[in-house]
Amino acid sequence: MPLSSPASDRHERHVVLIGLMGTGKTSVGRRVAMCLGRTFLDSDAQVEAGTGRTVREIFESDGEAAFRVLEAEALAEALARPEPAVIAAAGGVVLDPANRQRLRTLATAVWLRADPSLLTSRITSGDHRPLLDDDPLTMLQRMHEERSSLYDEVAEGRVVDVGSSIEEAVDGVLGLIS
Ligand code: S3P
Repeated sequence: MPLSSPASDRHERHVVLIGLMGTGKTSVGRRVAMCLGRTFLDSDAQVEAGTGRTVREIFESDGEAAFRVLEAEALAEALARPEPAVIAAAGGVVLDPANRQRLRTLATAVWLRADPSLLTSRITSGDHRPLLDDDPLTMLQRMHEERSSLYDEVAEGRVVDVGSSIEEAVDGVLGLIS
């Protein structure tokens, strides 16, 4: 028996990072994937690659409901991969009960939690965050209220409070999944 197993053997389920926009799911997820020797996937990037359109364009031409369908498809596709990956899920995936069920069954989710006022100080709306165009703080506060219990339900107690350090968040995630 080897004294230590390869990083990728430590945890056979997908690791999915959930949380509000700006909590660092992509940057933290990329590093966690590197540490575990796994593929990294990002829901928004999957949607954009699959449709050839930005999230903003999809919101503007087809509406939010159409985007939520694509978001759910991207999540299902990522979770269906046989090799365990690290997935940065788009902030809204927890709104759909079927997504929550899928996440609980097929993944180990970790909630990156942060105060909305911290998020507004470092966030940019950009082409994949049309919902933050007008009043980011109010929007993030509303999302925090609406979604916190959903993130909590899916993460089953695995929560990392994010501050300014990506490295600390990465260590927090690694500590919760190993
Ligand atoms: C959204 C989060 C965004 C993007 C879209 C909607 C949300 O993804 O999917 O703008 O409703 O929270 P990130 O969480 O990756 O920024």
